[in-house]
Amino acid sequence: MASLTVRQLDDAIKARLRLRAAKSGRSVEDEVRVILREAADSLDALVPRSSGSGLVQDSDPVRRTRSATSSKLPRVTLIIGGGIAAYKALDLIRRLKERAIHVRCVMTRAAQQFVTPLTASALADERCYTDLFDPQSEFDAGHIRLARDTDLVVVAPATADLLAKMAQGHADDLATAILLATDKPILVAPAMNPLMWNNAATKRNVAQLARDGVSFIGPNAGEMAEANEAGVGRMSEPAEIAAFAETMLRPINSRRLAGKKILITAGPTHEPIDPVRYIANRSSGKQGYAIAEAAARAGADVVLISGPVDLDDPAGVQVIRVESARAMLAQVEKSLPADIAIFAAAVADWRVANAGEQKIKKTQSGLPKLDLTENPDILAAVSKLKQNRPKLVIGFAAETENLIANATAKLKRKGCDWIVANDVSPASGVMGGDRNTVHIISANETESWPVMSKDEVANALVKRIADATGAKA
Ligand code: C5P
Repeated sequence: MASLTVRQLDDAIKARLRLRAAKSGRSVEDEVRVILREAADSLDALVPRSSGSGLVQDSDPVRRTRSATSSKLPRVTLIIGGGIAAYKALDLIRRLKERAIHVRCVMTRAAQQFVTPLTASALADERCYTDLFDPQSEFDAGHIRLARDTDLVVVAPATADLLAKMAQGHADDLATAILLATDKPILVAPAMNPLMWNNAATKRNVAQLARDGVSFIGPNAGEMAEANEAGVGRMSEPAEIAAFAETMLRPINSRRLAGKKILITAGPTHEPIDPVRYIANRSSGKQGYAIAEAAARAGADVVLISGPVDLDDPAGVQVIRVESARAMLAQVEKSLPADIAIFAAAVADWRVANAGEQKIKKTQSGLPKLDLTENPDILAAVSKLKQNRPKLVIGFAAETENLIANATAKLKRKGCDWIVANDVSPASGVMGGDRNTVHIISANETESWPVMSKDEVANALVKRIADATGAKA
């Protein structure tokens, strides 16, 4: 494939590109990517859609694939300072990514004595920046872009020297230039020897930075890298820093569902055969729980009606535990009205009509006969309500073949507004696993998302719900 760099374009195009990029608040490179993506989309639109049934077949080439979610994730610029704790910053990259946070790394010269930019790039899936005067990124004022094109700047580890420079407003390398140029919140995780932390100069610098609005996490008390030294100075653990960063970040995407009541079903149902046996399925409940947590973080009032699962209650969610489909329906009805309903539970289609009141015994006279009868379809029942129907009703379709066609048919049959379709064939690893590949199907479009963690799917779905219900960003 031929390669072309922005530099090779003629000046008039470059000037227009810069203007467009400045208007949209993107880098020139990102603006070019957006233009190319739009051009590719409009080429796709020229391919005729399948007609007739109106169903979008699985093989339909016109599937709108948006990797939008990764570009819409909250973004952290992680500045790695030069201390022994720099190795923990590598783990921090992973912890942030687990929380569906996009990470872009910057390393000071000293940090590179401890860890390499290559490792940080590999973990972040993006180039690690090191130089203030890097011709490649300075073409479009790289340090200004790195400072602005983010939602939060995290400094970990923050050495005594870096804190001093920040407090004084130095900008003689890329890290300090970003810290001076940013208009985004800054979170600092100091790490240094206890004597340095307790030094009057460091105390002055920390107090000054706190006054300037910088947030701090740690340092913690504990053993130092130096033999036989202990005290306050250890960098906070990566998991703690990631959790703190998330609480600083989420308000950006969140509270969008404040004032909305959301009803969610999750997990399998257990249908008794007798008091000790039941029919079940392999649903773990992870996706539904992740959605409940994401919705609660977005400020919604969430009621989660859960079948039997081995998961802790999500934070800030009212959880009602049930066993059978009929009990789930009863709780759903009790919990209405709601603004939005999401039916992620893998409800058993059948129950045993002649379930034994006592444990069924093995006998010589042959095998017991189990009569099955159909369970109520909770999603269809709520979708078809005349009164109290939530404004947005979302169902799930777990399929092992003809995913899009089956899910689209299900959307119509059940009368819901969206179907979140996923392939649960054993090879996909979705059942019980932590990752998911979903397609959002509504009456007039099918949107295919890239493979993501179940938390990422939950965040992206909550965002899509907020967008669709007109909740303000
Ligand atoms: O028909 P199927 O089970 O594949 O449909 C899946 C969707 O319907 C899911 O959203 C599931 O929660 C919902 N459902 C339900 N009650 C049932 C069966 C399925 O709410 N009895």
